[in-house]
Amino acid sequence: MSHSGIRLAALARPSTALRGKLHLPGDKSISHRALMLGGLASGRTRISGLLEGDDILSTAAAMRAFGANIRRQDEDWIVEGVGNGCLLEPEGVLDFGNAGTGVRLVMGLVGVYDMETRFTGDASLVKRPMGRILDPLRQMGVQVKPEDGDRLPIRLHGPHTANPISYRVPVASAQVKSAVLLAGLNTPGVTTVIEPVATRDHTENMLKGFGAPVDIGIDKQGVRHISIEGQCALMGQDISVPGDPSSAAFPIVAALITHGSDITVENIMMNPARTGLIATLQEMGAVIDIENPRSQGGEEVADLRVRSSDLKGVTVPAERAPSMIDEYPILAIAASFAEGETLMQGIEELRGKESDRLAAVANALEVNGVDCTQGRDYLSVRGHPGGKGLGAMTKDARVAAHLDHRIAMSFLVFGLAAEHGSLVDDASMISTSFPGFMKLMADLGANMETAA
Ligand code: S3P
Repeated sequence: MSHSGIRLAALARPSTALRGKLHLPGDKSISHRALMLGGLASGRTRISGLLEGDDILSTAAAMRAFGANIRRQDEDWIVEGVGNGCLLEPEGVLDFGNAGTGVRLVMGLVGVYDMETRFTGDASLVKRPMGRILDPLRQMGVQVKPEDGDRLPIRLHGPHTANPISYRVPVASAQVKSAVLLAGLNTPGVTTVIEPVATRDHTENMLKGFGAPVDIGIDKQGVRHISIEGQCALMGQDISVPGDPSSAAFPIVAALITHGSDITVENIMMNPARTGLIATLQEMGAVIDIENPRSQGGEEVADLRVRSSDLKGVTVPAERAPSMIDEYPILAIAASFAEGETLMQGIEELRGKESDRLAAVANALEVNGVDCTQGRDYLSVRGHPGGKGLGAMTKDARVAAHLDHRIAMSFLVFGLAAEHGSLVDDASMISTSFPGFMKLMADLGANMETAA
């Protein structure tokens, strides 16, 4: 399955007893950053376990356009970087497809260069807000065209010498934090990001790993201040990318809601900034055993054994959102089969993802018989243990994926436990983050297939 712009409907039918082991593809956040920092660093970076999803391939193409040499060699990826400050002006427009993380981080990385760069994306990406990245870049001296610049396509031209800033991130967003830190790499002096709500810490950790002088302090209010001294040397690294917890979420929930299941999902990154879903599912009564915890490439990883479980509804507090921001659609599926109500608070950010995920999830649940309520920044789902009466494969109940991989995967998982299964209008986008999803799920015994 590839993201070719051709729609590919898919369906899932009620299934029993998912069994076996599943080895996850690499983490998307770390894969993007490995290519960006490898492409920038001096010398050679070797990446094992890189996610070979379409989003990551867009980042690889962009880094090549800036002069990096990137190739696959056997199972690994080899990146020969240009050296910090030495990216070249690309000839064409950089098309990031569906990849919000790719385009936002690369805009930070190259926006401050005294050259012109042009960015665009697919029908989903051109609708997503970019002002959150462009505001700090403007403060650093970057010219943005069009001037309101809140949506792609966008043209950037950096100043002769960029201005280091101290930037308080106004929304809980690792992408905004990362874009500013990456811009700080080619800026003289110290660039600081103040992060009132902690988000995933891969950028700061990996920058340190590549040798950048990064300093992390916590003030009296417990707020993180992350500073980087720009124009430093970066040296190529060996990187081993752990499995993506955001991808693991789909087989985990599938096993929980599918009667008689017992699966092991191997190699999951257990960074606490990413494991909010696992904590939430455990609160709901999920039987998840954390096995073989170990350290890999600076991250904690583990294998998770998951057995089908009777779930009960819980309240998920707003403070947990950053550690499971991409997992709400699949949590809504778990909630659909739980006893009682699950209330997800403080999730307005979902409205600016690959789709308006709050609306997309609520609408798809409703047409498939699940009782739910959406508010501006919350979703509540009343569950139907056993899935009786849920789902349908009719045209009216077909799930609109809105070019959003996580909506497509969530509602295919839904169909495994819903009495009448599920039909998703387009599963082609799944390859942006989880290539091989349908086959891996089918190997576990999931009744899932593409539809004619
Ligand atoms: C990501 C950050 C999150 C997340 C995205 C990946 C990253 O976005 O939704 O899938 O790798 O930094 P926000 O920073 O907008 O919350």
